Amino acid sequence: MSCKTAILISGSGTNLQAFIDQVADGKLDLDLCLVFSNNPDAYGLERARKAGIPTDCIRHGDFEDRESFDRAVAAVLDEHHPRLIILAGFMRILSPWFVDHYEGKVLNIHPALLPKYPGLNTHQRVLDAGEEWHGSTVHFVTAELDAGPRILQGRLPVDPNESADELQHRVQAIEHQIYPQAAGLVGSGRVKFDAGRSIIDGDVADEPIVRTFD
Ligand code: GRF
Repeated sequence: MSCKTAILISGSGTNLQAFIDQVADGKLDLDLCLVFSNNPDAYGLERARKAGIPTDCIRHGDFEDRESFDRAVAAVLDEHHPRLIILAGFMRILSPWFVDHYEGKVLNIHPALLPKYPGLNTHQRVLDAGEEWHGSTVHFVTAELDAGPRILQGRLPVDPNESADELQHRVQAIEHQIYPQAAGLVGSGRVKFDAGRSIIDGDVADEPIVRTFD
């Protein structure tokens, strides 16, 4: 049976679209059971509706604190019984309660070769530092921001003459390939989370799988 998967978004949802397309093409065996947003205007909700995926939205501004919003989100999610939760441009820091409630089930993609460049504005920081390589990392979510066990990285050589926008565009194209792939590995059970580490094909993995792109 396909792994029931919820996708959380806040914006345009190009990563969500990659999941939708790969499932439709039969390349990815996940059951996309819910697309959730904290932003009613997120274009990703429209993408989900077009694909016939159930959607829900709760505005974080209507809640007093982070955890009460997260508990409301979890109540919606739990109605759909997801085994996997994909953060795809979900612009919220998760409370410790939420991370604990879904330990080992939440994936994030971060536009850098973690542990390098956690946080924001990664593309410009990479260019400013004169890095030779940049890319994106899919990882399990833990309490520490952008620091959970890594699963899969896509990397590409940096052209020192390109702009941050161009670099971002190239990195996003990679994300649309590696994020569904990593989620598929978790959904099929080839990758697991155990005691704060990634287990890849039965072995504790201190390093992620790395794919190199042009
Ligand atoms: C991605 O670039 C990802 O790295 C970051 O948020 C962005 C989401 O973009 N976490 P989209 O909404 O999927 O287009």
